[in-house]
Amino acid sequence: MKKLFVKTYGCQMNAYDSARMADLLAPLGYGPSDTPDGADMVILNTCHIREKAAEKVYSEIGRLRTLKAQKAESGGQMLLAVAGCVAQAEGEEIVARAPAVDLVVGPQSYHRLPEMIARFARDGGHPLAADFPALEKFDALVETKETGISAFLTVQEGCDKFCTFCVVPYTRGPEHSRDPEAVLAEARHLVDLGARELVLLGQNVNAYDGGGWTLARLCEGLARIDGLERIRYTTSHPRDMSDDLIAAHRDNDKLMPYLHLPVQSGSDAVLEAMNRKHAADDYRRIIERLRAARPDMALTSDFIVGFPGESDADFEATMQLVRDVGFATAFSFKYSKRPGTPAAALRKQVAEDVKSARLEALQALLTRQQHEFDDSQIGRTLPVLFEKPGRDEGQLVGRTPYLQPVHVQMPAEMIGRIADIRIERRTANSLHGSPI
Ligand code: SAH
Ligand code: SF4
Ligand code: F3S
Repeated sequence: MKKLFVKTYGCQMNAYDSARMADLLAPLGYGPSDTPDGADMVILNTCHIREKAAEKVYSEIGRLRTLKAQKAESGGQMLLAVAGCVAQAEGEEIVARAPAVDLVVGPQSYHRLPEMIARFARDGGHPLAADFPALEKFDALVETKETGISAFLTVQEGCDKFCTFCVVPYTRGPEHSRDPEAVLAEARHLVDLGARELVLLGQNVNAYDGGGWTLARLCEGLARIDGLERIRYTTSHPRDMSDDLIAAHRDNDKLMPYLHLPVQSGSDAVLEAMNRKHAADDYRRIIERLRAARPDMALTSDFIVGFPGESDADFEATMQLVRDVGFATAFSFKYSKRPGTPAAALRKQVAEDVKSARLEALQALLTRQQHEFDDSQIGRTLPVLFEKPGRDEGQLVGRTPYLQPVHVQMPAEMIGRIADIRIERRTANSLHGSPI
């Protein structure tokens, strides 16, 4: 068995793709390895979203070069592939800058890896596959042989929204939804393998359009699968938060009361400059409607601070939006200039120290809200789906409907099952409880 090491950066969609690449290479005799030491093939599945993410790739290639040389000295060969969004955005540059890299493959072309590996063995050189034959990719994937209790399932890919700060429309290509029957078939297969929760993935997952099937209808179809207990989806865009999806949170018992709905900013001027095409109050209204449909809805979001031109008043509007909504958790980032995006060319870039101060203030508020949300569960009894063993002897880790991790003393056979757990206390990032 040859050893394959895959390192994943970036979003859940990359995690899904990494697993699919491993599936594709299994028939070629590659088995998973959890270290690059001695690996016969290493795939870096990269992310281009912020400058730091993209830079990591080149330093990682530098480290791998040594391992590759060692492997060659011992008479072996380590194939090094760069996949993902950096490969898509900077494929030619990687080929020019990093001769240690043997293969470069974009997020819509990785189904061609087996063929590329064969060609590389025959001819050498630097095959580069970075086009967008999205329809072709999903048809060419091979069935997976294993799954966790919670499994990712990509249903939609790409983005046509062109927020002015974002590289995704350029790295993932145009919006494209998978055929609902193919999604349902993959879902049944994952449930047969033991998955109890599915997380539907898409860059704009709530824009899902499977030839008349909306995301709400897809969730309805999925809910009919016996053995599937929980359905989640991510990431959504406020503009696509349709009435039927909001109603599904009331009517579909398997759809969890949890939504990641990035808003980015609470300032209308900044939202406009970002090309988000909605105002802060539109977002507030969506949240009201969601909470009317499902009062215990837990909300999470993404924020960017220091977008070009963001004033103190704009930032304060973001803080006010956070206070008004109340988030269960959230991600926040300093604006990072991305080559080729419209915002990178704007003249009024925000100074680094101002960005840092704003990020700190926002994160302090969001952390406080997270702790308040977690604390509000103490004393309650919640259905927890157990996913894996915990760090302590006899302990399992599961998740509440609101995605909070819970540590409980539980027999191992409860993995994959739901039990009512009384929540007793909180530590920094998780809850602890006991079965009732
Ligand atoms: N499709 C999702 C987001 C994908 S990127 C959506 O529309 O919300 C994940 C998050 O990264 C974004 O929500 C945004 O908050 C952040 N992000 C994207 N580009 C960024 C940039 N140039 N600088 C800083 N953060 C960025
Ligand atoms: Fe990027 Fe905007 Fe598309 Fe999300 S909606 S992926 S932030 S361009
Ligand atoms: Fe990163 Fe590409 Fe995902 S840029 S966030 S890996 S879509």
